[in-house]
Amino acid sequence: MASSLFFLTIALLSFSCFPQPHGKTQPRPFILPIEKDPKTNLFYTSVRIGTPQHKMDLVIDVGGPFLWYDCNNSYNSTTYHPIPCGSKKCPGDSGCSGCNGPFKVGCSNDTCGAFIINPLADSIFSGDTGEDVLFLSNTKVSNILSGCTNSDAFTGDYGVLKGLPKISKGILGLARTKLALQTQLSLSHNLPSNFALCLPSSNKNGLGNLFIGGAPSLVPILKQNNDSSFFLTTPLIVNPFSTAPVFGEGDPSYEYFIVVKSIKIDDEVLNFKPTLLSIDNKGNGGTKISTMQPFTVLHSAIYKPLVRDFVKKASDRKIKKVAAVAPFGACFDFSTIGRTITVLDVPTIDLELEGGVHWKIHGGNSMVLVNKEVACLGFVDGGKEPKTSIVVGGHQLEDNLLEFDLVSSKLSFSNSLLLHKTRCSKLVSFFPIPQGVMMS
Ligand SMILES: *[C@@H]1O[C@H](CO)[C@@H](O)[C@H](O)[C@H]1NC(C)=O
Ligand SMILES: *[C@@H]1O[C@H](CO)[C@@H](O)[C@H](O)[C@H]1NC(C)=O
Ligand SMILES: *[C@@H]1O[C@H](CO)[C@@H](O)[C@H](O)[C@H]1NC(C)=O
Ligand SMILES: *[C@@H]1O[C@H](CO)[C@@H](O)[C@H](O)[C@H]1NC(C)=O
Repeated sequence: MASSLFFLTIALLSFSCFPQPHGKTQPRPFILPIEKDPKTNLFYTSVRIGTPQHKMDLVIDVGGPFLWYDCNNSYNSTTYHPIPCGSKKCPGDSGCSGCNGPFKVGCSNDTCGAFIINPLADSIFSGDTGEDVLFLSNTKVSNILSGCTNSDAFTGDYGVLKGLPKISKGILGLARTKLALQTQLSLSHNLPSNFALCLPSSNKNGLGNLFIGGAPSLVPILKQNNDSSFFLTTPLIVNPFSTAPVFGEGDPSYEYFIVVKSIKIDDEVLNFKPTLLSIDNKGNGGTKISTMQPFTVLHSAIYKPLVRDFVKKASDRKIKKVAAVAPFGACFDFSTIGRTITVLDVPTIDLELEGGVHWKIHGGNSMVLVNKEVACLGFVDGGKEPKTSIVVGGHQLEDNLLEFDLVSSKLSFSNSLLLHKTRCSKLVSFFPIPQGVMMS
């Protein structure tokens, strides 16, 4: 019942906004809500898995290879099927697992293993690959392959859920892999292999959205702004060397890399060794996007001039510097910062990307309010030898609409939606159902 109501809403939307030729049904993307956890500054969505349905809050990891969840001692599901070792559905290199029983989810013999990766934990965990039903915003999807691991087997600081929001029970990986949810849904539901992300800046203002299988057709602002200045596009490139904690020989990275050509602060180019911006013959360097880093992490040789030049330009605006608050390196007296449409009037950080487009980071995305008096530049020092020179993190992605198009391998981005007097929580409203109709 619930699922047909959901489809009805989507159908209403399509009729009210963009009439389709009669009789032609276009596959509809999935829309999931995104919440921000104030403690970890990570982002999670909510799905339901199995029979009976278990609500699972899963952290969104654009660089994660698949969906995994906690099948702890108290978890079971009657619709679960472990994937046998050697089956075509078994990705292969993660071994075979067995269990002394009794049989339950995560305890079966001759089962295709899974390397469970939580980038915030210190180890890689063993788990199983299995198939079960998944409910995405009330739509039931069968035969979704995912990983599961029993958190009761790894306790304390060594836990598989380490560093994740307290409420969350796993990770939703959206990397460029066969098992990533968007890849599975694109095959089973005939959707384009892409997803779009709009991360909320705080839950006080409502939820953000994850769109799987195409955002633009559902986002009115993209219809109203049919010009190429709203969505800017840059190639997504493949780092030929894996950046994962476990990988096969010769595997490329499944994370999303883009090419930054230069960085400017208020139109002045930052001075650092340009080779840091390219990927070398070991896969080091370059720029990737990660939702598992709350703040952008920069190679020291980029971070230091960024902080120096930002402080200088801020002082030109009579913004007063105060003692730094870790992990940040430059903080300011909040009362000396002016207000703008993008929240705070601070120097603009401009990433010039491949294709000549500019990702402009304004106050709302560059500054973090650490308390009522102090606002800090929300970038952190990644040290002298990080694998990747620039890891664009969550805070810098908030209230930007980003579309990862895996078919043509490009990233489209809106820049701050605040410039368009909107934010992620206002892009589409689909809870409760009647609100959705208001979109037209
Ligand atoms: C097992 O997971 C369920 C929900 O997925 C949770 O309610 C329960 O507290 C967990 N049990 C333990 C021992 O962590
Ligand atoms: C888990 O569910 C399966 C399938 O319904 C059932 O055969 C099994 O006995 C259950 N295991 C436990 C430990 O409850
Ligand atoms: C796996 O096989 C072993 C040995 O045959 C058996 O003792 C155990 O009960 C089996 N486990 C399950 C979950 O069926
Ligand atoms: C946007 O405009 C172009 C030409 O101006 C047109 O070809 C295209 O169909 C329009 N796209 C949408 C989504 O309306």
